[in-house]
Amino acid sequence: MANNIVTRTAMGVWDWVNARAPAMMPAFRKHMSEYYAPKNFNIWYYFGSLALLVLVNQIVTGIFLTMNYKPSAAEAFASVEYIMRDVEWGWLIRYMHSTGASLFFIIIYLHMFRGLLYGSYQKPRELVWLLGMLIYLVLMAEAFMGYVLPWGQMSFWGAKVIISLFGAIPVIGNGLTEWIMGDYLPSDTTLNRFFALHVIAMPLVLLLLVVLHLLALHEVGSNNPQGVDIKHGPKGNRWSPTAPKDGIPFHPYYTVKDIVGVGVLLLVAAFIIFYAPMFGGWFLEHDNFTEANRLVTPEHIKPVWYFTPYYAMLRVIPNKLGGVIVMFAAIAVLFLVPWLDRAKVKSVQYRGWISKLMLAVLAISFVWLGKIGAGPGTDPVETIVGRVLTALYFVFFITMPLWTKIDKTKPVPERVTMP
Ligand code: HEM
Repeated sequence: MANNIVTRTAMGVWDWVNARAPAMMPAFRKHMSEYYAPKNFNIWYYFGSLALLVLVNQIVTGIFLTMNYKPSAAEAFASVEYIMRDVEWGWLIRYMHSTGASLFFIIIYLHMFRGLLYGSYQKPRELVWLLGMLIYLVLMAEAFMGYVLPWGQMSFWGAKVIISLFGAIPVIGNGLTEWIMGDYLPSDTTLNRFFALHVIAMPLVLLLLVVLHLLALHEVGSNNPQGVDIKHGPKGNRWSPTAPKDGIPFHPYYTVKDIVGVGVLLLVAAFIIFYAPMFGGWFLEHDNFTEANRLVTPEHIKPVWYFTPYYAMLRVIPNKLGGVIVMFAAIAVLFLVPWLDRAKVKSVQYRGWISKLMLAVLAISFVWLGKIGAGPGTDPVETIVGRVLTALYFVFFITMPLWTKIDKTKPVPERVTMP
């Protein structure tokens, strides 16, 4: 009886909302229960939904941090200490936010690498990739500005080094640096504007881009580990006569499957947050537990790990402007991938050994450069290795039109064959 009343009330509320917002149900169908995703998604396909989850975590924990954080050079550092020691559960909120930032980048790098593995950027998904790259750019800006907010030594000196890079640009460089900082050094003004951008402007842009990213994806449909085009394959499955035969409704099949990924992520996150929140200085740097001091330069200034591959490229190039150009080019070249790849097949599963080797070269050089960028940068041998790795990174992209064309491919099956 009680159950019946609950059901009838819920149905009543549902009908009431539906009568006033009739577009909601079709939208749910289009993007969830009647969005037919290939049935052969593997582990690599967890990272999109995990990125969404971490984005939500960053926004929610960020709102709570903002309640006690003071965006002024005089008070910022102490307010973070106050959050850690005196605010109820403040330490948890802060560690969830700082750990979330690093996990976000781990997830995004894996998500991007999945795209490279399965050629998910190829026609007709170029726009999905481009929007993803814009997300990546905004995410980097967001993380950089967030790191300045605690106003520790690394916040200050990291901001100084990175913003001063713009000084290498001829003619407008110095003016531009001053314009970004609002001063001659990172100061209260810089902190204030970074706070505004970090808590409202960038998250809004990020959310908008994520929505566009998913809309663009749902327009063309998801790729899959085999790169089989299910939309142009046979039609009709047990849910719909017009749906792709190898597609299954995203909801409930993949929403339920994604919960497995969420469970694993929560376990990993909980382990880090409760047992190793600084992660050996990789997620939170030791130097950032000392308040910013413009008169004392830390021994090694380096960014957080997710920027270190690019930072290494900057450091191993002897000329400042050259280093800046190489560093920005390393990011910019990723935008071009959909047009650099000339292969007739999408997935690495049906490509030859050259593609596999090149993907391995890219991954190894990126990770190794990350390690070099995180070090002191004083070893001359490491500098040479860094230059070779930087060259290899660019070789992947510059020669991509060539090796994707000459590499032998295997025929792609008409239909998905994996379970
Ligand atoms: C906040 C950051 C991001 C979020 C929340 C996000 C979310 C998603 C989701 C939910 C999917 C569908 C599920 C999946 O395929 O895993 C997806 C697909 C995709 N994303 Fe992202 N993404 C983000 C950043 C990026 C970036 C930085 C790139 C690359 C530059 C990218 C490229 C792609 C591509 C190519 C697909 C289609 C994959 C396929 O169908 O095989 N995304 N994204």
